[in-house]
Amino acid sequence: MKVLDTDFARSFIRMCNDGWTFGWHEANGGNASYRMRPEEVTEVRSGFRTRPWVSMDTEVPTLAGEFFMITAAGSHFRNVAHDPKRTLGIIEIDRTGTCWRECWGFRDGAHPTSELASHLINHEVRKAATQGKSRVIYHCHPAKLAAMTCVVPHDSAVFTRTLWAQLAECALICKEGVEVISWEVPGSVDLAIESAKAMEHTPVVVWPHHGLFVSAETMDDAFGIAHTVEKAAEIFCTARACGMPYTSKIADVELVSFSREYGLELARRNVYAKPYLEDPRLDAAFGKEPSREQRPSAKPEETPVNIPGAFRFPSVEPEAPSGAVPEVASEAVPGAVAEVPVETQAEAHPQPSEGWEPPVEASRVPVPVVPAPERPAQPERSQAEQLRQSVPEVQPMPRPELQPERFDRFAPPMQAAVPQHPVQPEPLSRPLPSEQPARPELLAQPVQSERPAQSEQPAEQPVYHFYPKPRDHRAR
Ligand code: 13P
Ligand code: ZN
Repeated sequence: MKVLDTDFARSFIRMCNDGWTFGWHEANGGNASYRMRPEEVTEVRSGFRTRPWVSMDTEVPTLAGEFFMITAAGSHFRNVAHDPKRTLGIIEIDRTGTCWRECWGFRDGAHPTSELASHLINHEVRKAATQGKSRVIYHCHPAKLAAMTCVVPHDSAVFTRTLWAQLAECALICKEGVEVISWEVPGSVDLAIESAKAMEHTPVVVWPHHGLFVSAETMDDAFGIAHTVEKAAEIFCTARACGMPYTSKIADVELVSFSREYGLELARRNVYAKPYLEDPRLDAAFGKEPSREQRPSAKPEETPVNIPGAFRFPSVEPEAPSGAVPEVASEAVPGAVAEVPVETQAEAHPQPSEGWEPPVEASRVPVPVVPAPERPAQPERSQAEQLRQSVPEVQPMPRPELQPERFDRFAPPMQAAVPQHPVQPEPLSRPLPSEQPARPELLAQPVQSERPAQSEQPAEQPVYHFYPKPRDHRAR
């Protein structure tokens, strides 16, 4: 059977094309890979060609002998459906998990994505985490999610809770939440390793100011997760940019009931850890009304300021008499009816874990809207300064201890060279391409038992890459 006639290839191409249609793949942005099933390999193997093995600067022993369909470096997703043999290819991992070779596709001198390390290392992590079920890794550049990384703290719990609070489906589809990693150079082994640490906890990783990195069992699932997360991000951005006061989101207790109803484990990763519930500044940053006790303490110079396109803070209104429905100051049309929060204790709601206390619940009662009072003149402050002051330092989320040494093998110390490969290259069915080889930094180096002295460093080789060369992680 021809590769392009198989279900997996059709599904892969459709995922790429849908991502392009959704606007997530500007230029060559994004990449994807699929770990083929043994029966799929058998089906198409007769059409494979044999190319030389290429050494990796990392090792993925549990992927030894696996085959992957993967996008080509620099390929534009808008071309995948039109020219799959150039924009895609299939690679095989050798028996040691340290080399790969091309078997199909990659026409006209194309090579696997510059994020090959991220894909392979993370396939290994997700394969283990899902008992072999996970097969797809999809990386896209959705704009609203990238925009969220400009205004929401890069804390996985805060980010997750914000996404879940926008859209019920997000908690369901992305029930393990997202992990937000630090910014890393695209295509670098650092990016691969940081993502792998995150993928120990969740299949959804946010690369700040870059994109989304998702793993799943099927192409439908991977695309569905990306679509849902981006939709929640779109709701977040749109609601804050529309100019109306931000008065409602899915409350924590509502998410907890949702979790109970659907058997989800929303609290498992400590997303509702107390600091987030009790910190008035963080609540304010996410649009929650400050409690009555908190309001008087707000000094004039601490009064938050709305920033166009970023968080919108509720107006500070005079305290309502106890028991009365408070009038809310609003920037909406006078006389309109808005829904405003009224504090009640949600004692009836379930608690996700021992020691967890239910948050202050907001029920919604329609009240007449009155015009907002004049704001006191604010001193000029930069947007960055306003954000810094409005969003507190967030405590790191407690989580199981990582064992960094487990990731060491992904970045081995100055490795000699690729040892003599146990599998002798098969005779080539056609001549080697004369063009520049793929990522020569990954190719075999002369055998050295130790790191060479500075003066003995080999001359810089010409490099095939679309991004700055990853820094030498082996030097760490
Ligand atoms: P490639 O074209 O090498 O796949 O890179 C695109 C990308 O999005 C890198 O993060
Ligand atoms: Zn990218």
